[in-house]
Amino acid sequence: MKNFSFYSPTIIKFGKGSIEKLPKLVEGNYKKILLHYGGGSIKKNGIYDDAIDQLKKTGVEVFELGGVKPNPALSMVREGIKLVKEEEIDLILAVGGGSVIDSAKAIALGALTEADIWDFFLGKERVEKALPVGVVLTIPATGSEASMGSVITNEEKNLKLAVNHDLLRPVFAIMDPEYTMSLPRDQTFAGVMDILSHIFERYFTKTENVGLTDSLAEATMKTVISNAYKLLKNPDDYNARAEIMLAGTLAHNGLLGLGREDDWSSHQLGHQLSALYGATHGVTLGIIFPAWMKYVYRENLDIFNKFAVNVFGVSAAGNTKEHVALEGIRRFEEFLKKIGLPRSLKEAGLPTNEFERMADLATSMGSFGALMKIDKDDAVSIYKLAE
Ligand code: NZQ
Ligand code: ZN
Repeated sequence: MKNFSFYSPTIIKFGKGSIEKLPKLVEGNYKKILLHYGGGSIKKNGIYDDAIDQLKKTGVEVFELGGVKPNPALSMVREGIKLVKEEEIDLILAVGGGSVIDSAKAIALGALTEADIWDFFLGKERVEKALPVGVVLTIPATGSEASMGSVITNEEKNLKLAVNHDLLRPVFAIMDPEYTMSLPRDQTFAGVMDILSHIFERYFTKTENVGLTDSLAEATMKTVISNAYKLLKNPDDYNARAEIMLAGTLAHNGLLGLGREDDWSSHQLGHQLSALYGATHGVTLGIIFPAWMKYVYRENLDIFNKFAVNVFGVSAAGNTKEHVALEGIRRFEEFLKKIGLPRSLKEAGLPTNEFERMADLATSMGSFGALMKIDKDDAVSIYKLAE
């Protein structure tokens, strides 16, 4: 096991009606709040009204900035920073999914600096302070409600990059599984894939003697998969939604990666599909992950065998490690098919004649990955496998 430090400050209020905890979380702590949200789903499903009703019980002044798009744009972040600076806002309240939360985090970072916000994503500026961010989560997927990351798309440069720092972890997250009932089916399952992928990025590594996090990861994966099947049958299953929502946070608050290296190649490869073609994050991962797995599994046959046996119930008896590993990947692909995610770039309507361009962008900050270092040629090969 590797040395580590772990900081997870987010206060989580989980369950039915937890929006009622909002006044206590803000009153006395903040004076001016920016209510940040997306394209309008919260106005249709009533979450916007719930949040406003609760905020009215407090003395805080509320400003609004809606219109965050999936794969949140740098231009919106800049607009938010300007508003927050002008109005001296002291809390950004993100009501939405990962896109809204990440936009809120970038605004919170940009509000306290004169530096250009994109320079933080390019690694040219160091994070030293940020305004607090609170969250009302409406889709379990990214784990951004408790994570240290913000992922923003620079529309002019076709680049999607992340900045990571403990100061970007939200101060609180209100998580009501009932708020996720209005999700369209494709977003529900894209979210499921994203949650699994955050576990994969930590699980499929070479660190030895990490039995506890191996087991926690496997339990979380099995929970996500079994409850995804329940949601296929009944999208209104509260307990299945609750299990998936909790798993989404645990998958990416850092807990499952304690003491181990992490990989992130598949995220890096997927992000460029979102930056170039606007693809949904979870959809890109459902396409890239199986391709990446087939490309790298020989780097650690043992962990791919554990995955096959412990998560998908593959029998190891009488079979080679190679066979067991590949059978685990096959069963994972079968799961993806059942939950209706596109199985290839083609099936997702993404181009299959731009691998060089995709790989150039994906590796623009250098090679990446832990289980295997991925350079431009590897990136092209993985995109080809995902064709
Ligand atoms: O925009 P609105 O109208 O709100 O609609 C959204 C959006 O169209 C809709 N939606 C959300 N909650 C809903 C709902 N529709 C009906 N009912 C609800 N309850 O769903 C669509 C997708 O929302 P979005 O926020 O984009 O989804 P997600 O949470 O998957 O976020 C994706 C973004 O987060 C980044 C991704 O790269 C992507 O940009 N990630 C952030 C991470 C982090 N900060 O730690 C880690 C992740 O790996 C990921 O990279
Ligand atoms: Zn992700």
